Amino acid sequence: MEFERGSMKITSLFVLSGASLWLALATVAQAAGDPSQGAVKAATCLGCHGIDGYQNAYPTYNVPRLGGQHAEYLVSALKDYKAGNRSHKTMQSQAASLSEQDMEDIAAYFAQAKTSNK
Ligand code: HEC
Repeated sequence: MEFERGSMKITSLFVLSGASLWLALATVAQAAGDPSQGAVKAATCLGCHGIDGYQNAYPTYNVPRLGGQHAEYLVSALKDYKAGNRSHKTMQSQAASLSEQDMEDIAAYFAQAKTSNK
């Protein structure tokens, strides 16, 4: 009995804090990346990382596909290039000029970009 009453209290506490948690998460989600901003910022990337519906300037250039990739993965890859933890001259110079917000926006854009390639 004592235990049950205790867990009821915990549940209502959880519901209450859940509301503010949801607000916090919504704020984080927005700060995490704006795909429409990302579409603009990713313009230079698309020359190499061509996705469906966009011209690929280097049709034979072998680059990783970014469209549909997880945003978290893309951001961590970009941070690694910028920090020098992952070495690739081209991508290091691409990432060097990106702020964390740029990375989040670009990642959000690529994450929701649909690819028809199987
Ligand atoms: C000049 C061509 C070129 C441009 C422009 C370019 N990239 Fe890349 N990108 C590459 C190549 C080549 C690789 C593979 C590098 C490697 O093997 O580490 C790569 C790798 C990546 C990766 C890692 C993908 C994976 O699967 O691990 C990410 C993320 C990425 N690029 C994002 C971007 C973004 C964002 C931009 C624009 C700011 C951009 N790239 C611009 C050529 C380019």
